[in-house]
Amino acid sequence: MLPAVGDRLHLTHLSDHDTTTAGQDVIAGLRAAPQKFLPSYYFYDAVGSRLFEQITTLPEYYPTRTELALLEQHAADIAHLTGTCELIELGSGSDRKIRSLLSAYARLQPQLVYRPIDVSGSMLKTSAMTLLKDYPQLWINGLVGTYDLGLDHLPPPLAPHRLLCFLGSTLGNLTPAQCRHLFQQMYRVLHHGDYVLLGVDLIKDTQILLPAYNDSQGITAAFNRNILSHLNWRFQGNFEPLAFNHRAIYNPVAQQIEMYLDAQDKQTVTLAALDFSCTIAASESILTEISRKFWLDALKSDLTAAGFSWVGAFTDPQQWFALCLCRR
Ligand code: AVJ
Repeated sequence: MLPAVGDRLHLTHLSDHDTTTAGQDVIAGLRAAPQKFLPSYYFYDAVGSRLFEQITTLPEYYPTRTELALLEQHAADIAHLTGTCELIELGSGSDRKIRSLLSAYARLQPQLVYRPIDVSGSMLKTSAMTLLKDYPQLWINGLVGTYDLGLDHLPPPLAPHRLLCFLGSTLGNLTPAQCRHLFQQMYRVLHHGDYVLLGVDLIKDTQILLPAYNDSQGITAAFNRNILSHLNWRFQGNFEPLAFNHRAIYNPVAQQIEMYLDAQDKQTVTLAALDFSCTIAASESILTEISRKFWLDALKSDLTAAGFSWVGAFTDPQQWFALCLCRR
């Protein structure tokens, strides 16, 4: 008899062990001068995760559908290239992205271990339950926490190799320095012969990039402001989300979209649970996200510099998005 769905799910909450440092990154960001910033992972509470899912279906937001098509088209090639693997996913979010890969690997192996890592526990659990119903040979070991914590708490592998997936171009949320740090950490926790699959958004015309972050229905604006609502409930704050304007621009020098929240008036903000307060001047901005766009050659040399060998990349005919496979 097959084990029940619930028996094949195990979730570990890493952020719970982290109460002393939780929120210190928020304080650091709000103290930064001249530019205040917030760590982008605070977008993804239950409401934010839902708003992001809505963004992925907007006509202007091309990355998700382009990547899904690439995954659909090339999952079997990827599985054949790597052979038997367990799958790890950073920032798993909804279960939509991983499905093609799970199906491809499920055709090759009788048992499949999937380790999603995500800060949104609610999202992780809902997605996991759906996947377990659809894939009888799947075992899910989820880690609720940041990438950093998740990678450092990976249990020993249960398959000959691992495929570490970092999809959705979430890599673009990291600064070049954070990106180098992540590649080093990946190199450290993976074993010789393991694989990394990166989904990245490529450099393209601003006329295509900008509308993706300034959609006509205002969903991105709501997503942006929700970071403040999340901080309010998480840290007993008093941000007034509606007193901030959403702004997204393309910075051609840094090759990134930058999302800001611009304060309409002067505000004194308190985060009681963190024992922190600061003032935000009228028209002062908070940088809430960078979304870097990549040249494949540059990415390839960054990965090579971290010790990985480049296996190959799959791109769409318009060269808007790429899936890059490399090996530890
Ligand atoms: C999920 C981080 C890749 O940068 O495009 C979408 C998030 N922000 N619209 C992105 C996002 C605004 C998204 N990532």
